[in-house]
Amino acid sequence: MYVCICNAITDHEIRKAADLGARSLDDLSSSLGVATCCRRCADCARCVLDEHLATQACAAAGDD
Ligand code: FES
Repeated sequence: MYVCICNAITDHEIRKAADLGARSLDDLSSSLGVATCCRRCADCARCVLDEHLATQACAAAGDD
């Protein structure tokens, strides 16, 4: 799904950026341009990022 309409950024792209090292909304803004226009996507983008990072942490700990 599209998370950032202004820049046509999807949740898939946010997860991929996290896999490549993005750890904050600022990282997503720098790498993808998320939340650099109207910023209505900021909360959703942060949520997608945090959820993906938590999933990675569970998988790494073997809790998944
Ligand atoms: S929807 Fe992301 S900056 Fe507007």
